[in-house]
Amino acid sequence: MKPFVYITRKVPDEIYARLAKVYKVEMWPEEDKAVPREILLEKASVANALLTVISDQIDEELFSCASNLKVVANMAVGFDNIDLEKASRFGVAVCNTPEVLTDTTADLTFALLLATARRMTEASEFVKDGKWTSWAPMMLVGTDVHHKKIGIVGMGKIGTAVAKRAAGFDMEILYHNRRRHEVAEEMLGAQYREFDELLEEADFVVCLAPLNDDTRGMFQRKHFQKMKKEAIFINASRGPIINEQALLDALEAGEIAAAGLDVFDQEPISKNHPFLAMKNVVALPHIGSASKETRLAMMTMCCDNIDAVFEERPPRTLVNKDVLQF
Ligand code: GLV
Repeated sequence: MKPFVYITRKVPDEIYARLAKVYKVEMWPEEDKAVPREILLEKASVANALLTVISDQIDEELFSCASNLKVVANMAVGFDNIDLEKASRFGVAVCNTPEVLTDTTADLTFALLLATARRMTEASEFVKDGKWTSWAPMMLVGTDVHHKKIGIVGMGKIGTAVAKRAAGFDMEILYHNRRRHEVAEEMLGAQYREFDELLEEADFVVCLAPLNDDTRGMFQRKHFQKMKKEAIFINASRGPIINEQALLDALEAGEIAAAGLDVFDQEPISKNHPFLAMKNVVALPHIGSASKETRLAMMTMCCDNIDAVFEERPPRTLVNKDVLQF
């Protein structure tokens, strides 16, 4: 009997067809709506593999009813939606999609930084709303990016790729990370700072740390208060790393100048979220890795990982290396 693969979100035909050649495949057919929890649990209870996205909660409840499940291939580099310890306990391999999305996500992060500093979404709305009636010296002025100080919190692969882009803009590069990054220090002149020092010095604070027990709620009000009043905060990793209310309060009180956010505490955010009324907030719908090429590469990596498991090889990007299957 062919293994059963359940895909939790509509994927392009070529990805579906590739899996359907080898497996029995079913897919949640909607692109803009997450699979309802009860359907996810029902499918997981009979699936041998799940191809998941970051909004799927893959937890103990799911593993306990998924007795035939061998692999969860998560289409993301982050895997905070999956309880890894339980996955290993239930003997389920968990895979992610690192590296293929590094440059694409770094491009978006830097674009978000530029858009926030130069008020690009506000300016575009201004033109589209027919408000552009003349040229004025101080119309929609933003702040420079070049030759400023960027402070990267989380100097992993994406953080380093953002630092490379910052070097091209002649920025001074500060970073904070669990471990020193000697290569970035040597190649890009990146300078290590303690967290508080980085907050105090940087003109742009860019959060790219993974969400885990150490980073959840890492940015509280006092951290925004340490930043310069002109500082711009960018978050392209995960919403829960910041206390969202603290960021709102800091923006409202003018403790920082602006924020560019690709990620939020609850995604999607509601239509009346206070961020949406703030001109100095650029809000994007978690599109860091969203280029056609990269999304296809991520899905292909998920398929490769599923193949590996059913061919009894360790998947290339296995996250829970303590799982006993291999
Ligand atoms: C997206 O947020 C990812 O983790 O790949």
